Amino acid sequence: MARTTLTRTVLAAVSVVSLFALGACASDAGGEPAAGGETSGGADDGVITLGFSQVGAESGWRAANTKSIQDTLTVDNGFELKFSDAQQKQENQIQAIRSYITQGVDVIAFSPVVETGWDAVLQEAKSAGIPVILTDRAVDSSDETLYESFIGSDFVKEGEMAGEWVVEQYDGEGYQAVELQGTTGAAPAIDRKEGFESAIEGSDVEIIDSQTGNFTRAEGKTVMEGFLNKHDDIDLVFAHNDDMGLGAIEAIEAAGMTPGEDIKIVTIDAVKDGMQALVDGKINYIVECNPLLGPDLAEIAQKVVAGEEVEKRIVVKDEAFDQAAAEEALPTREY
Ligand code: AHR
Repeated sequence: MARTTLTRTVLAAVSVVSLFALGACASDAGGEPAAGGETSGGADDGVITLGFSQVGAESGWRAANTKSIQDTLTVDNGFELKFSDAQQKQENQIQAIRSYITQGVDVIAFSPVVETGWDAVLQEAKSAGIPVILTDRAVDSSDETLYESFIGSDFVKEGEMAGEWVVEQYDGEGYQAVELQGTTGAAPAIDRKEGFESAIEGSDVEIIDSQTGNFTRAEGKTVMEGFLNKHDDIDLVFAHNDDMGLGAIEAIEAAGMTPGEDIKIVTIDAVKDGMQALVDGKINYIVECNPLLGPDLAEIAQKVVAGEEVEKRIVVKDEAFDQAAAEEALPTREY
């Protein structure tokens, strides 16, 4: 898959930092943030202490994203990683960020559960002199000085790519679509909806129902069951991620229909389970969302701590897969 120039150079940068990191203290990777009080790490010892607040563990995509971060921000690469899982709750993320501020970490990074409501805690980080890096999802704030950089995909573009393929394949057939939205208020849910709707505008593809499935397989299945009970004329599912699409497959099969044939399915992410369903003909098209953000985050964190200029927005480039492309890509797929 295509990556930014930053990613291509990150291994070299990480190795340089590894030289500083010999003898570094143990990482907190995987643990909850400490209650606060002690000041840990400090870039002046050659080790960057980074507090990361993850959205949760809601999807295959999220698992791959967490792995990429934990595999990259290691002691060997010059990091002490403090990692916390917010279980898809904004209040947990705010609490984790406050804890990282109290602990005096060198950098805070997080993937915001929802877009709004971050200004106060980001202002607290700024006042404490701790730089913040956004990964994966954006915040909706008028003050761009509250964070150093935002690394992630263009979600509007992903929705557009999905919608463009649907129009190319099915325009003129009067398709009725249902939409499984991501978490309400989350950037990928807002942006993918916007992109898909703009791409199908002017075609005869119509969204007849749309509800959140919270990016999980279980909720995707439940919402799809509701759609199937309510409508007997569904031609297509647009799911904001693979996991909800996989839940929809279960609901469609339980209703005695064939996913990918009776009801077409288009999703976003391209994780292995989704790609396998595409190869099996149960999903018809997948737009990729690359979760391997650890190397970019490492490079940006190193630059920020060193006082170097960083790009405010780093867009990760995504591909898209039909069945033939998925067959080719699946054997060497990293996630
Ligand atoms: O923010 C990225 C989205 O969050 C992924 O598409 C989804 O699977 C995850 O939960």
